[in-house]
Amino acid sequence: MKEKLVIAMVGLPARGKSTMAWKIARTLEYDDVRVEIFNNGELRRKLSQENTSSPDFFSPHNPKGLELREKCARINLGLAHSFLGNGGEVAIIDAGNVTRYRRRMIEETFNGLPLFFIECVNVDEEANEAYLEHKATLTEFSHLTPAEAFDSFYKRISHYESIYEPLHEERNRLLVDSFEGCILQEQISDVVPYYDRIRDIITTRIVRNLFLVRHGETYFNLEDRIGGDSDLTEKGLAQAGALAEHFADVPLPVIFTSNHKRTLQTAAPIAAKQKDCSIIALPEFNEIHAGLCEGMTYQEIRRQIPHVANARNRNKFGYVYPSGEGYATMEKRVHRGLQKIFYLNNYNDNIMIVGHRAVNRMILSDFVFRPKEEVPYIYMPQHRYYHLQIDPYKKHFELKPYVQKAG
Ligand code: F6P
Repeated sequence: MKEKLVIAMVGLPARGKSTMAWKIARTLEYDDVRVEIFNNGELRRKLSQENTSSPDFFSPHNPKGLELREKCARINLGLAHSFLGNGGEVAIIDAGNVTRYRRRMIEETFNGLPLFFIECVNVDEEANEAYLEHKATLTEFSHLTPAEAFDSFYKRISHYESIYEPLHEERNRLLVDSFEGCILQEQISDVVPYYDRIRDIITTRIVRNLFLVRHGETYFNLEDRIGGDSDLTEKGLAQAGALAEHFADVPLPVIFTSNHKRTLQTAAPIAAKQKDCSIIALPEFNEIHAGLCEGMTYQEIRRQIPHVANARNRNKFGYVYPSGEGYATMEKRVHRGLQKIFYLNNYNDNIMIVGHRAVNRMILSDFVFRPKEEVPYIYMPQHRYYHLQIDPYKKHFELKPYVQKAG
């Protein structure tokens, strides 16, 4: 018989707790461990007819809110307890659990069973803001404008902040930066089953389905001009339409693009074919900036400034365009963009990025090792896309056509 374990998440709203809980649960299931997540927020939404997403509901001075939240916590702890008593192996309590009082309640419920707490923090203000902006578009806030929803969620967080007690005296605890995917502090006083495995899961990037698409054909592409902010041609629009058909039955809650028109114009029809899909443009995925060469053709560069063409030919990865970027200098920002999308995306959701030739090469090489000198030559066509899947047992990537529906 496998050992039992209780994991309790801790952290302010929007700190990546649920994503972390899903990631741990789904990966442990690969090892045939029976895991279940008990999410207090979901239960609250089920139990209450009223709208419990208003910030006042979360005020520590609102007795009605406090009562309902405590009720949900107790029900979930009871359910988790019976799950473990009926053959379940790992129960994950997914809630804020921000006070010592609440954590004592958990310790008392599972007295005698191994228990450890994972506290999620994220000190990256910009990523937090992006997360809130994204949350504001969710159905829970559909009765508000995005600005009101942002405000409402911000106030909810402040209520939690006012009573927040970080982990301190708990016997087994981990402090995790969920944006960076790294462990900041750990204190383990008892034997905690699956501990090494869970530590690995926390620090490994797992990709269920990532679709890496290049934008459709643009007027600049027709003339072989680089950079700029050109529109899609008729053919480019048709490619976007074909992508929309292809992915119509593949749920995509979010499509990530760059700030350039060509990626937004490619993503728009794909999003329109989905049931509920938003587009998030990230500057981190903007195409390599060719500086003084922006808008030129490769032939013009060869003829007018041959030293640029020659130097780039000699070392395409390391070469930086005058007043612009190079592959090497894009590495950091692209990596940061990827960290953002893993933070913004729910663990279970498919991810789509609509990017550009050079930026997509960098994205791909962030997942799959390629010698640096090969990266600027990775094949990145406009009539196919890359499909990536990475889990602890396999790393799979495939170049696929999109002429028919995805099967
Ligand atoms: O031509 C399209 C484009 O995306 C340009 O904007 C960009 O400069 C270029 O491809 C990147 O490809 P390479 O590094 O092979 O020149």
